[in-house]
Amino acid sequence: MKKNLFLAFLLLTALYACGVKSAQKTSEAKSSGEVVNSAEYTAGQTIYKEKCGKCHPAFPVKEKTVDRWNQVLQPMIKDKAKLNEADGKLVEAYVWAELGVAGK
Ligand code: HEC
Repeated sequence: MKKNLFLAFLLLTALYACGVKSAQKTSEAKSSGEVVNSAEYTAGQTIYKEKCGKCHPAFPVKEKTVDRWNQVLQPMIKDKAKLNEADGKLVEAYVWAELGVAGK
């Protein structure tokens, strides 16, 4: 009985580890030298969809070039969407992760 429980625990741990790994694969990227974790990525994505789609559609990030993002991201965050610093950082992390590049 105890042995079965232990095996079930092992199996669950293994399944959990795999799930976490594959979830991170899509969202891990470098931003200012840091690895963006999935929670940051998801939070950034949510803010992006809510706050960055008001005046224009929330463009698919990859639709614009890295150069374009470098030009517009800061002004958009600060002057247009007027995000606070924490939200701005999350949106930055999301955008750079989507592009797969390290942000400025
Ligand atoms: C208050 C309205 C407003 C909000 C909110 C806003 N934008 Fe913009 N956005 C604009 C305007 C106006 C332009 C065109 C300005 C330009 O081309 O310089 C623009 C242009 C852009 C572009 C360039 C599009 C292109 O075709 O090159 C990107 C990318 C962008 N915004 C991203 C964002 C992001 C990310 C956010 C959220 C942090 C955001 N915007 C929030 C008004 C807004």
